Amino acid sequence: MNTKIINLESVDSTNEFLKRENLSPITVVTAKIQTQGKGRRGKRWISHSDKGLYISFLFPVPEKIPNIQIISISTATAVAKVLNEFKSEFLIKWPNDILIKGKKICGILPELTKEKLIIGIGINLYHSEKELQGTETPATSLAIEKIEVPREKITNFIIEAVKNSFFKTANGKFDLSDYEKIALIKQNTHVEIKEETGTVSGIALGIDREGFLIVEINGKIKRVFSGDVSVRV
Ligand code: BTN
Repeated sequence: MNTKIINLESVDSTNEFLKRENLSPITVVTAKIQTQGKGRRGKRWISHSDKGLYISFLFPVPEKIPNIQIISISTATAVAKVLNEFKSEFLIKWPNDILIKGKKICGILPELTKEKLIIGIGINLYHSEKELQGTETPATSLAIEKIEVPREKITNFIIEAVKNSFFKTANGKFDLSDYEKIALIKQNTHVEIKEETGTVSGIALGIDREGFLIVEINGKIKRVFSGDVSVRV
């Protein structure tokens, strides 16, 4: 399948751009600046000019995937593996945040409509500490971590890695052990799950093939879907 790459100077959000434009998969869009960068759960994504990689992929909607959670976990795994080529300290916080030394450096926003599967990825490349102030979870950038990577190099690596991981996962071939090797929440990690009704503590047992986090809470096994909760390690 051919890949079309669109590099924009400025856009509201690369995800929104792919949603409203009539483009066919695979299309990849990047922007130097997003004026309304979106995070998960209605949050904003800091998108200063030339500071981050703001990139979204339009993929064909796979027939067999039960939910997009596993695609977003496999995408996080692919992106973390690219980052680990530069410094092998990046971990995935379930379901799809990438952290270094406990600080968030990358977020992923998958969006599924009837006709479109869009995966948006934001990586903090060159932000200063000041520019990342005010985020809900402590954030960092490659520059703050003293990891020097040219934008073009990382962009090309990410495009290749994310495409490969998408097709592997869409064909049911995502290897969960790839995720487990770099997961922050491992078997027996103590987690706190913030639900609408309050916070509960439990012990993580791992994730299942659909990307649910399996947690033992007071002797009972619960499958946790990221849409419902936030997890603190
Ligand atoms: C998160 O909250 O962790 C997800 C952040 C996703 C940010 C990326 S940047 C490119 C794409 N366009 C957006 O508006 N959001 C995603």
